[in-house]
Amino acid sequence: MPYPEIRPRRLRRTAAMRRLVSETRIDPAELVAPMFVKEGLTEPRAIASLPGVLQHSRDSLRKAAVEAVQAGVGGIMLFGVPASRDERGSGGTDPDGILNVAIRDVVSEVGDASVVMSDLCLDEFTSHGHCGLLTPAGEVDNDSTLAAYAEMAVAQAAAGVAVVGASGMMDGQVGVARRALDAAGHTDVAVLAYAVKYASAFYGPFRDAVESALEGDRRTYQQDPANLRESLREVALDVAEGADIVMVKPALPYLDVVAAVRAAVDVPVAAYQVSGEYAMVEAAAANGWIDRDRTMLETLTSIRRAGAQIILTYWAVEAAQLLRQRY
Ligand code: PBG
Repeated sequence: MPYPEIRPRRLRRTAAMRRLVSETRIDPAELVAPMFVKEGLTEPRAIASLPGVLQHSRDSLRKAAVEAVQAGVGGIMLFGVPASRDERGSGGTDPDGILNVAIRDVVSEVGDASVVMSDLCLDEFTSHGHCGLLTPAGEVDNDSTLAAYAEMAVAQAAAGVAVVGASGMMDGQVGVARRALDAAGHTDVAVLAYAVKYASAFYGPFRDAVESALEGDRRTYQQDPANLRESLREVALDVAEGADIVMVKPALPYLDVVAAVRAAVDVPVAAYQVSGEYAMVEAAAANGWIDRDRTMLETLTSIRRAGAQIILTYWAVEAAQLLRQRY
């Protein structure tokens, strides 16, 4: 060995030393817990493909939100599952629609102690399950969908949400949401842009969670997993349209994209560790094939290391609790 001997193992010898030199830490305040609430439920219901995640009743959602805040998570992202759906997804814009009602419930429970966010997308509310309105020929129509998103953003803001999560992948959706919010006086409501959203097979369990009616896929509006440069274009557009935070989704299979986006912009970058990423680990752990907690923290650390400052994950509450014990 050359002199002086360079021995990287010196810095790995004890847990204290490893902690001292650790380059990446996750703060519970950077984790966001996605939560589902279903209209008409009196008891929470399990989701088979997302073990440990629930479809909440309005009541159990309030309690889960409080528990999440107590665990120290930075935010809550709400998704609504309506009792009935129509072609236009009108439950999304209806002030009495389940998502808007749930926003009011959660905001009245946690106030500004956490950041309450909501999914700004029509797919949970449309009878066909697409993220937009359809033309008579059955194609997703960008511009008529934008008008619906504008109305939905204002309804969510009126319900008290702090951040709208524009996830529908229509061109121009961020600018339309921003202008509509401003025109209605909601200048303080932030837009989290699902700037980069791939047409991914990893969303499977989520579609169970929201009882998605979708047949087919979303490849005419979500991105091709083969493309990276396209993501930088999407991000640049969303930032120009006024996105306050940009997100990459899914997370773990797209860490190169997370790193590239981090390098390209100066707004906060979030990543969504989606349902399939969670379900894979849970399924393997249930079989005794991997150590669940270690894998969980390793995936979150990797996403953080790649450059995501905010992570949406179904493990948010549990990870926050684990991390608090650790540090
Ligand atoms: C759209 C939306 C989806 C997810 C979050 N927002 C589904 C989709 O695009 O089909 C997926 C999240 C996950 O898989 O955990 N409303």
